[in-house]
Amino acid sequence: MNGNLLIVDDTPATLKLLSDFLLAEGYLARPINNGELALRSAALEPPEVILLDIRMPGMDGFEICRRLKEEERLMEIPVIFISAASDLEDKVKAFQAGGVDYITKPFQREEVIARVKTQVALSRSRQEMKRLNETLEQRVCEEVAKNREQDFILNQQSRLAAMGQMIHNIAHQWKQPINALSIMLGNLKEDYAARELSPEGFGETLKQARSVLERMSATIDDFCNFFRPDRGASVFDIGHAVEQALSIMAASLKNHQIEVVTSVAAGLRAHGYPNQFAHAVLNLIANAKEAIQESEMADGRIEIRLVEEGGKGRLTVQDNGGGIPEEILAKIFDPYVTTKTAGSGIGLYMTKMIIERNLQGAIEAANRDDGAFFIVSLPLASGEPMP
Ligand SMILES: Nc1ncnc2c1ncn2[C@@H]1O[C@H](COP(=O)(O)OP(=O)(O)O)[C@@H](O)[C@H]1O
Ligand SMILES: [Mg+2]
Repeated sequence: MNGNLLIVDDTPATLKLLSDFLLAEGYLARPINNGELALRSAALEPPEVILLDIRMPGMDGFEICRRLKEEERLMEIPVIFISAASDLEDKVKAFQAGGVDYITKPFQREEVIARVKTQVALSRSRQEMKRLNETLEQRVCEEVAKNREQDFILNQQSRLAAMGQMIHNIAHQWKQPINALSIMLGNLKEDYAARELSPEGFGETLKQARSVLERMSATIDDFCNFFRPDRGASVFDIGHAVEQALSIMAASLKNHQIEVVTSVAAGLRAHGYPNQFAHAVLNLIANAKEAIQESEMADGRIEIRLVEEGGKGRLTVQDNGGGIPEEILAKIFDPYVTTKTAGSGIGLYMTKMIIERNLQGAIEAANRDDGAFFIVSLPLASGEPMP
């Protein structure tokens, strides 16, 4: 079928002539002789093109066309007007009413067929385009939803990982004070048993124990602050955030006999989310520590430097844990890339997101000397840091 047409004309002879030769050309042509019927038939089964006589008793062609244009479902059907007169005024009105073409009676068979063919083709490609657009829109929506879900899952996983790290680090931070408390209690018990516990000695031990407990409680506060979401973007001191990340890891690094060398320029400021940035740094330090532990390197060492270079803050983290396996070096910042049995593979992904999205910075990974080398560069900000 070459096209589904509606032909509207009040003159039976014209109607028959038109529909006969369009049928012969392979079109499905519905002949209709008045406006009311034409509107109903179009609504019942929208045709691809309408051929519409202008001069008709009752509703004329212009009126029918206007009504078609008011219906959402029908407004896009191309209308070709037919008129006896080659009246210029009629032609202008026909286009104003929303017609796409105009045929004058008496008509030439070839001309009518050519014009109908063009309009059917245009109408079909318009429909096709619309369909493509709709599926495209739908696919974009689906992809966006999928991405959002993925982001959500990654976020949840990264929070879990951060929480795990926090508990691990608290455990390390508390090892020493718990030991100290246990020794104090042991001493108290022994002194009491030997009847050597003086009121002064007892008071002194109590004071020491309280101070240890206060320090433990302060650790918890520090950790809670560190893992609390940022209140908003602000100007912050980069070196300060680096030191904060280091202090969270300090006990754990010390317990593993890993030496930390720092050289942190003071007064460099960036604009963004300070806690998130400190997290990003923490991920780098945690990875360095894990690489050193895994390599069973006796003299574990992590070097952290912050300098100003070319108007940017440049932070580097170098370790001597044996370096990043070559086969994952190119995709190390992709999510779920991990070589650890209990690894999540999202630490570096999150780190990159934070540095690129929240701080408009950049991060690179390489192997240098006997370990991994990470370079973070951050645009610097002026202004006073928030306290
Ligand atoms: N400092 C490093 N030295 C060696 N390999 C590293 C270092 N940092 C990261 N990697 C490699 O990159 C992988 C991905 O790191 P990350 O995204 O933090 O996930 P995870 O630590 O959970 O494995 C690690 O499994 C490890 O193979
Ligand atoms: Mg990691």
